[in-house]
Amino acid sequence: MVKKASLAAKGRECQDAGELQIGIKNKGVSALNFIISNSYAEMSVKAAHFVAAALKAKPDIVLGLPTGSTPIGMYQELVRMHKEEGLDFSQVSTFNLDEYRGLKGDHNQSYRYFMETNLFRHVNIKPENINFLSGVAKDPVAECKRYEEAIIKAGGIDLMILGIGINGHIGFNEPASKLEANSHIVKLTESTIKANARFFEHLEDVPREAITMGVGSILRSRNIILLASGTNKKEAVYGSMSGLVTTEIPGSLLQLHNEVTFFLDTEAAAKIKE
Ligand code: F6R
Repeated sequence: MVKKASLAAKGRECQDAGELQIGIKNKGVSALNFIISNSYAEMSVKAAHFVAAALKAKPDIVLGLPTGSTPIGMYQELVRMHKEEGLDFSQVSTFNLDEYRGLKGDHNQSYRYFMETNLFRHVNIKPENINFLSGVAKDPVAECKRYEEAIIKAGGIDLMILGIGINGHIGFNEPASKLEANSHIVKLTESTIKANARFFEHLEDVPREAITMGVGSILRSRNIILLASGTNKKEAVYGSMSGLVTTEIPGSLLQLHNEVTFFLDTEAAAKIKE
């Protein structure tokens, strides 16, 4: 009961995304919004509808995009909306959060390939508007600088979409005593390597390094949503909404931002509801 009351002070539960005012900075205090759905499917549809509303409000929207299992349902709903309702991606620009080091964009485990198969090739986005950090750049420092400059040139990210790691990582910003603000190379933790092994044939095949936006690149976005589903995310979700900020739970830094909404299913929300 006490926990619930104290959490209520840190966030605002919304019944659906229609309640949220997209892009309007009006709160003046940091307060995470959160929407709890009964299932993964419902969560995915609600998140997709939030993204679609933002896209309709600003047809040339700049999106930050995640990969992983969690956003697949949301991408499926966006594809359905494009095919059946004409949701128009022709002016949209995208910046993906991260990429494995050592994998070319056409490798079937690369994040670029994931985005092609789950979203890009099914909607009318222009290839020249798709931006990715290269996993095979010879000069990774220059590559990170190029990416940050490209984000600035595009006018900044309007809506960043995030997943969250079991350990609380956002992008590939792994828990640490210090975090990089801007895009950088990162060594993946054992827990992330194990969690991502499900996509590879052998554990040894999982790349040990990635190139990722930094927490500053993420927090500079005007609006942020985070999707989390399943019991194994409940600690990370709780740690990201508890009112305490720590680089050991990178998701907790989102509490420093003014426009953040968590889309959760009941399992991922289990600890904040306790
Ligand atoms: C992926 C990314 C990661 C994932 C996170 C959750 O681009 O940035 O932070 O969002 O690892 O992954 P899933 O959704 O597979 O549990």
